[in-house]
Amino acid sequence: MHLAALLFASALSVGTLALDNGVMRTPPMGWLAWERFRCDINCENDPKNCISENLFIDMADRLAEDGWRELGYVYVNIDDCWSSMERDAKGRLQADPKRFPGGIHKLARYMHDRGLKLGIYGDMGTHTCGGYPGTTLDKIQIDAQTFADWEVDMFKFDGCYSNATEQEKGYPLMSKALNATGRPIGYSCSWPAYQGGLPPKVNYTLLGQICNLWRNYGDIQDSWDSVLNIVDWFFENQDVLIPAAGPGRYAFLKVF
Ligand SMILES: *[C@@H]1O[C@H](CO)[C@@H](O)[C@H](O)[C@H]1NC(C)=O
Ligand SMILES: *[C@@H]1O[C@H](CO)[C@@H](O)[C@H](O)[C@H]1NC(C)=O
Ligand SMILES: *[C@@H]1O[C@H](CO)[C@@H](O)[C@H](O)[C@H]1NC(C)=O
Repeated sequence: MHLAALLFASALSVGTLALDNGVMRTPPMGWLAWERFRCDINCENDPKNCISENLFIDMADRLAEDGWRELGYVYVNIDDCWSSMERDAKGRLQADPKRFPGGIHKLARYMHDRGLKLGIYGDMGTHTCGGYPGTTLDKIQIDAQTFADWEVDMFKFDGCYSNATEQEKGYPLMSKALNATGRPIGYSCSWPAYQGGLPPKVNYTLLGQICNLWRNYGDIQDSWDSVLNIVDWFFENQDVLIPAAGPGRYAFLKVF
């Protein structure tokens, strides 16, 4: 009886701590373009590897046809360098028309038709890390709405080209803006990685309330040394990182 009451209480407290958008109750699994494909936009000379709708369609086919989806790998995530260098006439982000001729909405439908989910990338700041249009504080609402209109399922918000004050405003504001669209969109915050990843600079209580997922450490490179280095960091800081995680709020190892 005592144990049952205790379990109930802890389940309740997790429920109130986590971002209440219903998604990512278990750790999200899937594929992200960055580690392997970076900002390769050279589709003329490197059509198989460039950041284009074909790449994400290919990966979706692999997840859906080779058994990955059944194991839970359902997210297909676009990273940087997907967009056009210009916003459209209404101030909205738009996909590069040559590399994504069908547009992001069509790509999201392609995923959904196969039981998969689409993730997209943006940056809290004047530019993305790769130099594409960023999401400054005044653009947060319109960008959240654009992603919802496209039926995107997850959004990674990077933090290049903004300072700590802007990030402190922008990350919670985006959480509110995504919620206001009415579409449940998993929210992945790179914020802690820009603050050294650890308390007291990073407030994991707050992060758990506004984000489903967070980035705390460096980019993974294509080497075992890099994997080890990241695993070591998580091992060394596990006392801080473990209590921060729970249903709806997870650390995001850029390994997937
Ligand atoms: C928005 O937030 C409210 C309150 O936390 C929650 O009940 C609702 O499910 C959220 N909606 C979305 C789409 O995230
Ligand atoms: C952060 O950037 C904003 C907008 O560019 C600027 O007004 C502010 O002074 C900056 N704050 C710090 C601490 O650098
Ligand atoms: C961390 O954020 C929580 C939730 O917003 C807040 O209650 C708490 O005071 C913050 N902690 C620190 C040390 O700022």
